[in-house]
Amino acid sequence: MENTVLSPHANMQSELKSKLQDRSAHIGIVGMGYVGLPLALLFSEQRFAITGFDIDEQKVATLNSGGSYIVRILPAEIQGAQQSGFRATGDYSRISQMDAVIICVPTPLDEYHEPDLSYITKTVEAIAPRLRPGQLIVLESTTYPGTTEEVVIPLLEKGNPAGLKVTRAGSAGDFYVAFSPEREDPGNTTVARCDIPKVVGGVETTATELACALYGTIFNRTVPVSSPAAAELTKLLENIYRCVNIALVNEMKQLCHRMGIDLFEVIEAAKTKPFGFQAFYPGPGLGGHCIPIDPFYLSWKAKQFDFRTRFIELAGEVNIGMPYYVVEAAAAALNQRRKPMNGSKVLVLGLAYKKDIDDLRESPSLTVIELLQKRGAQVFYNDPYFPTVGRGRHYNLNMTCTPLDHLEQYDCVMIITDHSNYDYRQIVDESQLVVDTRNATRGITAPNIVRC
Ligand SMILES: NC(=O)c1ccc[n+]([C@@H]2O[C@H](COP(=O)([O-])OP(=O)(O)OC[C@H]3O[C@@H](n4cnc5c(N)ncnc54)[C@H](O)[C@@H]3O)[C@@H](O)[C@H]2O)c1
Repeated sequence: MENTVLSPHANMQSELKSKLQDRSAHIGIVGMGYVGLPLALLFSEQRFAITGFDIDEQKVATLNSGGSYIVRILPAEIQGAQQSGFRATGDYSRISQMDAVIICVPTPLDEYHEPDLSYITKTVEAIAPRLRPGQLIVLESTTYPGTTEEVVIPLLEKGNPAGLKVTRAGSAGDFYVAFSPEREDPGNTTVARCDIPKVVGGVETTATELACALYGTIFNRTVPVSSPAAAELTKLLENIYRCVNIALVNEMKQLCHRMGIDLFEVIEAAKTKPFGFQAFYPGPGLGGHCIPIDPFYLSWKAKQFDFRTRFIELAGEVNIGMPYYVVEAAAAALNQRRKPMNGSKVLVLGLAYKKDIDDLRESPSLTVIELLQKRGAQVFYNDPYFPTVGRGRHYNLNMTCTPLDHLEQYDCVMIITDHSNYDYRQIVDESQLVVDTRNATRGITAPNIVRC
């Protein structure tokens, strides 16, 4: 019988594939946040022993003691994952034991509104010296097209003392690199995470194949694309599409306000069209780690190509203006009742950037509170997900959650986040004035409601 001798390159591929198949592959996930931790749990459900890397010692300790710091993830889920071998660590030396490493660290904007890739570069610099042949490295953090090729790969190649090279089309190297965007919609319970198709773009076909094999163990469908840049831009296109359409309805809302038309009624009617229309809803401004930030990753990159992304800039302008618009609407409603904003007691309902989640990154509520305070209002807040709010990158509030009672004491109650567990009928009945920025009071007719 003839012996088939596989090249070292083919050997590495088939070894990783068979380890994925029999669940013996060691998978490291760097960044145990809103993206990385749920991903770790998905792999654990498939009996993979996951190592979660994080520089936040408190998160590492909480996870290793079987606890959770994300409201929608129960400690029992962490404990279940521990039974499959899940452990958290801050020790990067363990990277060399991994067969695949997935990077899920933050990609914010800096103070000049430009991409801040420092979390990615620090992570990659920590991985590089521990690289070993045959490993697959996947970046999931949202970023501009070109990051994987222009930032991640050079750092990996430069930073490993053994001189390992990435496998490229036509030149077999020592390790594989791909980009695969995270598409989670926090709080959305209508689509199971495993049913969200996973887009994958490897540096060359083997990397794409291996990354598809990796994600194919937890997602029902993988969608290979031709390059990391195509995968990077796919994520940005999705978020820019949302950002631009939300800006459109936010602008419409302001026009409808003047024209005395209920935009929510109009959207519900337009939604009945069976093709060509997708409903987006206006609100008090954009929030979250994605929609207010990601589009600017592309506009920044576009400048290198002498290109202005005007849709993104215009959408940004409209969306950034929304907290100012709702505060102005509250001031006008108070004025109507012969009250100045200065000195009024205002209760802000909801801090989270969207309903039923415990995430306040970039939340418009924070801007609304600051604007109200600047105008002299005494501001209080209620949000079941945040007993206190301290200091963040763009705010310094130091406030404590106020109980949802004696609502008559407030001159104005502003609904900024429409959490499901609020009783809106009761809120309207007990309040002097309700300014509703989310149409949370739909179906309730009362003279003290102002929808804006
Ligand atoms: N949150 C979402 O819904 C969402 C959706 C799609 C894409 N994304 C993208 O995914 C990425 C991660 O977002 P997230 O919401 O999970 O962020 P997060 O802030 O919740 O979590 C990031 C984690 O990375 C850790 N970290 C930072 N630097 C590190 C380092 N050098 N080594 C190890 N750990 C490090 C942090 O301590 C934190 O626990 C971002 O690029 C984001 O744009 C997020």
